[in-house]
Amino acid sequence: MLTGVLFYCLNLEMLLESVAMDKDVDIDKVVRQHLDMEQFFAGFAVKGETGPGEPQEQEDNMAVAEKAGELEKMADEVRQCRKCDLGSLRTNAVPGEGNPNARIMFVGEAPGADEDAQGRPFVGRAGQLLDKVIEACGLKRSDVFIGNILKCRPPENRDPRADEIISCLPYLQRQIEIINPEIIVALGAHAARTLLNSTKSIGELRGQFHEYYAGLGRASIKLMPTYHTAYLLRNYSPENRRRVWEDMKKVLAELGLPIPERSKK
Ligand code: URA
Repeated sequence: MLTGVLFYCLNLEMLLESVAMDKDVDIDKVVRQHLDMEQFFAGFAVKGETGPGEPQEQEDNMAVAEKAGELEKMADEVRQCRKCDLGSLRTNAVPGEGNPNARIMFVGEAPGADEDAQGRPFVGRAGQLLDKVIEACGLKRSDVFIGNILKCRPPENRDPRADEIISCLPYLQRQIEIINPEIIVALGAHAARTLLNSTKSIGELRGQFHEYYAGLGRASIKLMPTYHTAYLLRNYSPENRRRVWEDMKKVLAELGLPIPERSKK
């Protein structure tokens, strides 16, 4: 900072000296322009040039705070949303929650009764199993972001309708854009098919990485489809558990994260 001020003063002094020689120059105007310029560039930092007093960390924290702010603004919009009929049927909208800087984003189908009651994603039985999957990966729920295709509960937990998906999807797309995760884990057929624009079954899609198209000019994001934890609860076989774990191991490997010992077998 001090070096910057000194540099600025020396620079300005040299500039004034040079313009003083030219009688037709408006010195006030030159100073004003110089200050404008200084202010304009003040917000920029050259990567790798932050000294020990201005760590990169501060900048990163600001970026996370900015992301959190944008996510919260969007969550407020979701809570006001009446784009489809579900808006008038819900107790609470469930915008999604988690780490704004998450490397992994889980995407489910739609809130159920527990989520509708609390306004939080995956807090019922399927959510408790998802928590276990996350823990088995050596992660915490607060490390990841958890969202859904639909932000409001469909009556009787019926499947999402096409018109509801069309109305609601822009919210999820925006969340993905803000968080910019390295990997999306799509839980179940509805999430996987919607995000991949596919009609294949979850059995065909799971177990390998696909590309989520993030929009013009944006890099695609790797997407791993796997079984929904609600499906796993209904079909709790060692084989299905193993399949979900195999999918998650691929996610961990892709991120260069360690695969916890006890789950290696
Ligand atoms: N099932 C989902 O798909 N999402 C939730 O939030 C809870 C259960």
